[in-house]
Amino acid sequence: MMKQRAQVSIGFIGGGNMAGAIIAAIIKKKIFPASAIGVSDLDRRRLSQLRRQYKITPFPDNQLLTRKSPILILAVKPQQMKEVIKGIQVLVNQKQLLISIAAGLDTHYFKKSLASSMRLIRAMPNAPALIGEGATALYASPQTTEADKELALKIFSATGKALFVPEEEWLDVVTAISGSGPAFVYSFLDAMVKAGLKWKLPEEVTLPLIVQTFIGSAKMVEKLSESLPSLIEQVASKGGTTEAGLQVMAERGFANLVEGVVEAAVKRARELRRRG
Ligand SMILES: NC(=O)c1ccc[n+]([C@@H]2O[C@H](COP(=O)([O-])OP(=O)(O)OC[C@H]3O[C@@H](n4cnc5c(N)ncnc54)[C@H](OP(=O)(O)O)[C@@H]3O)[C@@H](O)[C@H]2O)c1
Repeated sequence: MMKQRAQVSIGFIGGGNMAGAIIAAIIKKKIFPASAIGVSDLDRRRLSQLRRQYKITPFPDNQLLTRKSPILILAVKPQQMKEVIKGIQVLVNQKQLLISIAAGLDTHYFKKSLASSMRLIRAMPNAPALIGEGATALYASPQTTEADKELALKIFSATGKALFVPEEEWLDVVTAISGSGPAFVYSFLDAMVKAGLKWKLPEEVTLPLIVQTFIGSAKMVEKLSESLPSLIEQVASKGGTTEAGLQVMAERGFANLVEGVVEAAVKRARELRRRG
C-alpha cells in the first residue's frame, strides 16, 4: 500500500513515454531532485518502473498528486484528458502552474473546465525528446508569470531545444513542422535508402552515411550564420553532381511537395484542435 505523500516540487499526471523523457531530463539537469518529482498513472506497473528507474515519488491517484504539486504536468493522451480534468477540476487553483503536453488541446479546452484565471502553459514536444534531442514549442496563457515561463523553458530545454511562440495558433503549424517533423525526416531517409538500393548500394552503407549527412548538415546550419541558399550554393559547383540533383528537385517541385505536406498536417492539427 502506498503511504500518504508529502509535498513535491512537480507532479506528472500520466507517466508514459513523454513524461519519462521529461523526468529523465529534469533529474539529469538537476532542475529538481528525483524524490521531489511526483507521478500518478493508471498503469501501476509503469508507476513502479518509474519509481525503480528514477526514484521518483509515486502517487496513488491524480487527486492527491494535484493537492501536493505546485507545478502539474498533464501528460496523458489527448483522449484521456477529459477524464483527468474531471477528476482534478475542483482541486486546481491559481497558485499552481499547469503545463499540458497533449497535442491539439488548446487553452480554451482547459479553460472550459478550469477557472479562466488558471496559469496554463501548452508545450508541443516531439519524439526525439526521448533521447534528449527534442524540439519543443511552448505557448503561455496571459495569466502566467515570467517566472512560470522561465521554469517551463528550463524544463523543456533539458529535453533538447525549446522556445516560446507568441500566438497559440502557431502551435498548429509547430505540430506540423516539428511535431510530425521526425516522421517526414524518416520518410526522406527511407527514400534515400531506396534510391541507393536502386544503384545497388546496400542499406547498411547508405543509412549510416545519410544519417550522418543529416546530422552534419543540420549542425552546419546551426553553427554557421549563413543562409540556407548560400549553404546550398557552397555544395553545388557549376555543372557538378549536386547541381544535377537540385535541378530534378526544382523540376519535380520538391518545395511544392514539402509545402503540401505541411499544409495537410496543419489542416489536420486545426481539425483535431476544434474537435478537442
Ligand atoms: N510521444 C510523443 O512523441 C509525443 C510528442 C508530442 C506530444 N505528445 C503528447 O504527450 C502526451 C503523452 O504521450 P505519451 O506518448 O507519453 O503517452 P503514453 O505513453 O500513453 O502515456 C500516458 C500515460 O498516462 C496514463 N493515463 C491514462 N489515463 C490516465 C489517468 N486518468 N490518470 C493518470 N494516468 C493516466 C496511461 O496509462 P494507460 O496506458 O493505462 O492508459 C499512460 O501510462 C500526449 O498527450 C501526446 O499528445 C507526445
